[in-house]
Amino acid sequence: MRLERVAAHVPVGARLADIGSDHGYLPVALLRRGLIAAAVAGEVALTPFHAAQRSVRENALGSAITVRLADGLAAIEPEDGITAISICGMGGETIRDILDSGKARLSGRERLVLQPNGGEQPLRQWLMENGYRILGEEVLRENRFYYEIIVAERTGPVTYTPEELYFGPLQLQARSPAFLAKWQRMLHLKQKTLAQAVPEEKAQDIARQAQWISELLA
Ligand SMILES: C[S@@+](CC[C@H](N)C(=O)[O-])C[C@H]1O[C@@H](n2cnc3c(N)ncnc32)[C@H](O)[C@@H]1O
Repeated sequence: MRLERVAAHVPVGARLADIGSDHGYLPVALLRRGLIAAAVAGEVALTPFHAAQRSVRENALGSAITVRLADGLAAIEPEDGITAISICGMGGETIRDILDSGKARLSGRERLVLQPNGGEQPLRQWLMENGYRILGEEVLRENRFYYEIIVAERTGPVTYTPEELYFGPLQLQARSPAFLAKWQRMLHLKQKTLAQAVPEEKAQDIARQAQWISELLA
């Protein structure tokens, strides 16, 4: 379901770069359904790189999907004409670092479809600092875990408040049931942490976050 929701945010007809593709399921599924024109599946590690190669071979998609062993956006070549980039199933800080160290490979016209596992705030901070506007956001629950999807495009300067960076500017407006359930659970976890012995500085930070969450849910 998580990758299905990511797939729904990839524009029809895109030339997709799926970075950290692992088994390559996302580009393979999109191509099999005829929803994208071509794809690059990038992987930094050998075992998933081979798994992606196998998926592409077994689906006879070798002419449409190029699998590359590369670190982050180094998988993208200018002649690929990439119009969308997906980076999913990693921590938000890792996704941010991949975007930041690969900046030179971004044309600025790609749609970014990001699915961080935690670390959403630093990722949104990077998007803001680099002129990316958040155009879509989603929280979903699968197998007891909450996942976020962030869709962004470079539009020029954009400003988000600290609360918008923390919760997500569009989610703050929409307040979907999954979003509220996620933050109820997060509040419970923060309160549990605060009940334990934590260093003073850390406790203050967690208490501030708990306050924001309580205000959101009030
Ligand atoms: C948990 S898997 C997620 C796979 C798939 N994207 C998904 O969402 O189901 C993360 C994958 O990202 C790859 N990865 C991590 N850092 C990377 C980097 N800097 N460049 C390319 N791939 C990376 C890992 O090797 C791993 O296969």
